[in-house]
Amino acid sequence: MTAGLYLTVEGLDGSGKTTQIDRLAAWLTDAGRTVTATREPGGTEVGQLIRDIVLHHRGDIAPRAEALLFAADRAHHIATKVRPALERGDVVVQDRYIDSSVAFQGAGRVLDPAEVRRLSEWATGGLYPRLTILLDLDPAAARERLVSAQKAYDRIEAEALEFSERIRAAYLAMAQADSERWAVLDATEPADRIAARIRERVEPLLTGGESVGPLR
Ligand code: TYD
Repeated sequence: MTAGLYLTVEGLDGSGKTTQIDRLAAWLTDAGRTVTATREPGGTEVGQLIRDIVLHHRGDIAPRAEALLFAADRAHHIATKVRPALERGDVVVQDRYIDSSVAFQGAGRVLDPAEVRRLSEWATGGLYPRLTILLDLDPAAARERLVSAQKAYDRIEAEALEFSERIRAAYLAMAQADSERWAVLDATEPADRIAARIRERVEPLLTGGESVGPLR
């Protein structure tokens, strides 16, 4: 379908996604590839508006409304930014995707994970990445990193540790069920070693083959 390569990165807040995405993007650029680094929520202008609601609204948002807001961001992002980039032949490195909704809104907010997944599949036409990197980290360690970075918590980060335990378990279960798409990396390793492991997984995908995952 496309000439590009679609990669996503998942993990708890504080797992080091941003660092690793920056390093991967730099390495790919050095290798002569055009990289679109992007994120959800907020990868587009409309998405920024949705991100502001869903992360910074003061007060409750009903779980189903929250799921729909993430899905709306995703629908617009995939249609207007990710698909065009893949069609141009870019490597798309994306911070969070459908699996974040399945983990956070499904396991976290306790909606039916299969329904949450279907909602995002409808929103995106069933586009899946070729590879999803999970930076796996114990929730207490993730929380410690956020505290030491002295970042203000958003609505979702303000949730209890037990919420993050459910999310981590959901991520690991998804990865175990589909080892073809997922690479699980230990986020407590030094950043250099994690970056090298990511490159090892990505390199064979650069030389051809499928650019996205199978349609669902
Ligand atoms: P992220 O951009 O990774 O956070 P930060 O800007 O702090 O690095 O993600 C924002 C939050 O949104 C994060 O707590 C996870 C949550 N989220 C969901 O709950 N569902 C989703 O579908 C997505 C994409 C993110």
